[in-house]
Amino acid sequence: MEKEKGSRDDPMLRRRLPDSICQLTEGKACRREKTVLRGSELLIFDDCVLKITPCSREDEESVQVMRWLEGKLPVPKVLACEKKEETQYLLMSRIPGRKAWDDPCLAHPAELLAVLAEAVKALWRVDISDCPRTRDADTLLLKAKYNVENNLADVHNVEPATYGRGEFESPQALLNWLYDNKPGFEPVLSHGDFCLSNILTEDGKLSGIIDLGETGVGDRWRDLALLVRSLKHNFDGRDDGKADPDMLFDALGIEPDRKKLRFYALLDELF
Ligand SMILES: Nc1ncnc2c1ncn2[C@@H]1O[C@H](COP(=O)(O)OP(=O)(O)OP(=O)(O)O)[C@@H](O)[C@H]1O
Ligand SMILES: [Mg+2]
Repeated sequence: MEKEKGSRDDPMLRRRLPDSICQLTEGKACRREKTVLRGSELLIFDDCVLKITPCSREDEESVQVMRWLEGKLPVPKVLACEKKEETQYLLMSRIPGRKAWDDPCLAHPAELLAVLAEAVKALWRVDISDCPRTRDADTLLLKAKYNVENNLADVHNVEPATYGRGEFESPQALLNWLYDNKPGFEPVLSHGDFCLSNILTEDGKLSGIIDLGETGVGDRWRDLALLVRSLKHNFDGRDDGKADPDMLFDALGIEPDRKKLRFYALLDELF
C-alpha cells in the first residue's frame, strides 16, 4: 500500500467530498493512504475512516451488510455513505489496533494464530438466518463465469502453480474444474476477503474486522482458504519464528479439509 501524508484540509480534496461527509470531518486532521490493487483511497482520522472507491453495483448491499453486522461483530460502524460523480464515500468508525500482518504480530505466530482463531470463531458465531447477502459457491461460480467470459480473470496476480506446471491451461479450464468439483455447502458468515490486512489486533486480542465488501453467508472453508494463503505469503521467508499456516487448524481445534481449501483457493483465482 502506498502511504501519503496529507490532511482533510487539502483544498482539492475538500472540493471533491460530498457536503455531509465534509461536515462530519470538518477540521479533523488525517492521514491519507491509497491502495494500489483496488484503487481505493483512505483518509484515516483519529476516530473514523473515510473510504473512497469507484461506485459499483454491489455498494448498497455491502453497506447494508455492514449495518446488519453492527452489534454482532467488532466491525466499523457506518457513519455516513454518499455517492458523488461515480465515487462512493463511506465514512465509518475507526477500529483501534494494528493489522495482523504487521511485523510485531508475525514475529509471534502462536499469539497471532490465537487472534486469528478468535476472528474465525467470531464470524462463525453470527446467526446468519437474516443475513442480507449470500456468497455461496453457486453465486461465486456465476461471478467467476462472468469474469472468465469477459476476460476479467487476472492470470498474472495468481499463485505461481495455478496456470503453470500443467495444473490448468486457462481460466476456462479452471472454471470447468470448479463446476465439476463443487463441494457440499457448510454455511456460516463468510468475510470474503479474509486476509491478515483485514484483521486488526490490539493487546494480543482481536480488535476488529474490516473491509466487508464481500461479506455474506458463505462456506466456512472459503475464509479459511484465503487466510491460509495469506499466512503462507506473510510467513514466507521469515526466519524469526517457527511459523506454519497449518497452526491455524490447531488453534481452531479442527482438522483441515484439504479438498475444500483447495477448491476455495482456486475459485478465488478467478476474481
Ligand atoms: N474502519 C477502519 N478502522 C481502522 N483502519 C481502517 C478501517 N478501514 C480501513 N482501514 C485501514 O485502511 C486500509 C485499507 O482499507 P480496506 O482494507 O478497507 O481497503 P482495501 O482497498 O481492501 O485495501 P487492502 O487491499 O489493503 O485490503 C486497512 O488495511 C486499514 O489499515
Ligand atoms: Mg483490505
